[in-house]
Amino acid sequence: MRKKIVAGNWKMNKTLQEGVELAKELNAALAGKTINCDVVVGVPATHIASVVASVDSVVGVAAQNCADKASGAYTGEISAAMVASTGAKYVILGHSERRAYYGETSEILKEKTLLALANGLTPIFCIGEVLEEREAGKQNEVVKAQIEESLFNLSAEDFGKIVLAYEPVWAIGTGKTATAEQAQEIHAYIRSVVAAKYGAEVADNTTILYGGSCNASNAKELFANPDVDGGLIGGASLAVANFLPIIEAWN
Ligand code: 13P
Repeated sequence: MRKKIVAGNWKMNKTLQEGVELAKELNAALAGKTINCDVVVGVPATHIASVVASVDSVVGVAAQNCADKASGAYTGEISAAMVASTGAKYVILGHSERRAYYGETSEILKEKTLLALANGLTPIFCIGEVLEEREAGKQNEVVKAQIEESLFNLSAEDFGKIVLAYEPVWAIGTGKTATAEQAQEIHAYIRSVVAAKYGAEVADNTTILYGGSCNASNAKELFANPDVDGGLIGGASLAVANFLPIIEAWN
């Protein structure tokens, strides 16, 4: 059966000290508890190694990005190999903020995905439409193109290592979450796109997270949908009191 995951995306928040504190607090809160999903925190690059050292294996650590080149003269970039060398197991790729503000194209994301996989990282690959696309009823074609353009070059075996995160851009940081019905509808569609390319078994085993104003009050309803396998959580991952109940929504 596919994995259930609750992943935090801290984005550009928390100093190193604050981040380590938050990670330790989360780790302590999970200790001895029955947890029915994998837990991941996506932390700033400066924090990765310290956070890895501050948590037990119950908390996986993700980078929020990696370079589209393997190594060399790319000032300011951080390679997938560097991320992997910290002990991080995941990398968030293709977040809408990186697509919109840092010009990440499908072609660039294809390269990043290949490098992440080559270095043993699990990509948490983000897709999702903007408001105008949703209003024009184009959400399905948008997410299909995003998956096709960056991921459908992969073998079935490699595609099986990808976690997808559907994040409607209009729901991110807006407090306006997709309804449970909207989430289920598009998650089922995404799974059908994967099935058409790789077959039912790969599609059944693909974890598809929902992200966008997911919080303690709506997580249970969102996660109750058959094709929603967890969440990618922004704002509500910045305090244990808000993040823990989302993890516990699986209990
Ligand atoms: P919010 O949960 O703050 O809406 O952010 C969602 C997100 O972008 C996670 O990657």
